[in-house]
Amino acid sequence: MKKIIVANWKMNPESEAQAEELLKELKKVHEREVELVICPPFQYLVLVDKKAGFRLGAQDIFWEDKGAYTGEVSSAMLEDLGVSYVIVGHSERRKWLGETDKMINKKLTKALKAGLHAILCVGEPIETRTEGTSRAKHFIGMQLEEDLKGVKDDRNLIIAYEPVWAIGTGKSDNPEDALDIVQYIKESLASRGLYPKVLYGGSVNSKNAATFLSRKEIDGALVGGASLDMEEFKKIVKIAESI
Ligand code: PGA
Repeated sequence: MKKIIVANWKMNPESEAQAEELLKELKKVHEREVELVICPPFQYLVLVDKKAGFRLGAQDIFWEDKGAYTGEVSSAMLEDLGVSYVIVGHSERRKWLGETDKMINKKLTKALKAGLHAILCVGEPIETRTEGTSRAKHFIGMQLEEDLKGVKDDRNLIIAYEPVWAIGTGKSDNPEDALDIVQYIKESLASRGLYPKVLYGGSVNSKNAATFLSRKEIDGALVGGASLDMEEFKKIVKIAESI
C-alpha cells in the first residue's frame, strides 16, 4: 500500500518567486510509490503545473458554495484550480481562528460531498497528554465524534493524528505512543463502519520519518516545517517510497 506524504506549507514561503523555486525542486521528486500531496497557501495554487506528478491540496475550505462570505474559498473554486485534497481542522486554525468542531464538521462534510479527499486533523494538547495516552485517546475520541458527525462514507476520508505539542516544536511523539493512538483511531472508527487512512504529523523529519512510516498501521505523514526544506523533504519522500 502506497504511503501518503502531505506537505503543509502553512503561511509560507513569503514570495511567489520562492514558491516557484520550491515547486521547481518538487518536480524532481520521484514518487511513483508514494501518494504525494502538496498544500501551498491559496494564492500559490495557480502556480502549480498540473502535470508535475503530485496531487494538489488546499489548507482550508468553506462550507457554502458562494455568496457573502468575505475571505472564504469554496469547494468549486478549489476544484477549478485542480485541487483534490483539503486539510480540515488543523490545530493552528482551531487555535488562531477559533474553529470549532461544529465548523470543522461542516467543512469536512462539504469537502467529502464535493468529492475532495479530506484530511481531518485531530490531536491533544500537552496538558491532556501529560495525564497519559488514555486521556489523549478520550480527547481525540470526542473530536472524532463531533468532527465526523453524520459522515458515513470513508472513501475520501483521511485522518491526521497530530499531537498539538509536537507541531513545529522539533519534539515528535515517540513512535510507540503514536502507533497506539493511531490504532485507537482506527479501531474506534471501525466500530462506526469507517476505515480511513490515518497519518501521523508533528515534527516529522528525515531522521524520524522511518520510525513512523515503517509501521503498517500508519498510512503516511503530514509534514510542516520539513516540507519547506527540499533536501529534507526529498529524503522523507524517499524513505516513504522505500517502505
Ligand atoms: P510540523 O507541522 O511538521 O512543522 O511539526 C506539522 C503540521 O502542522 O501539519
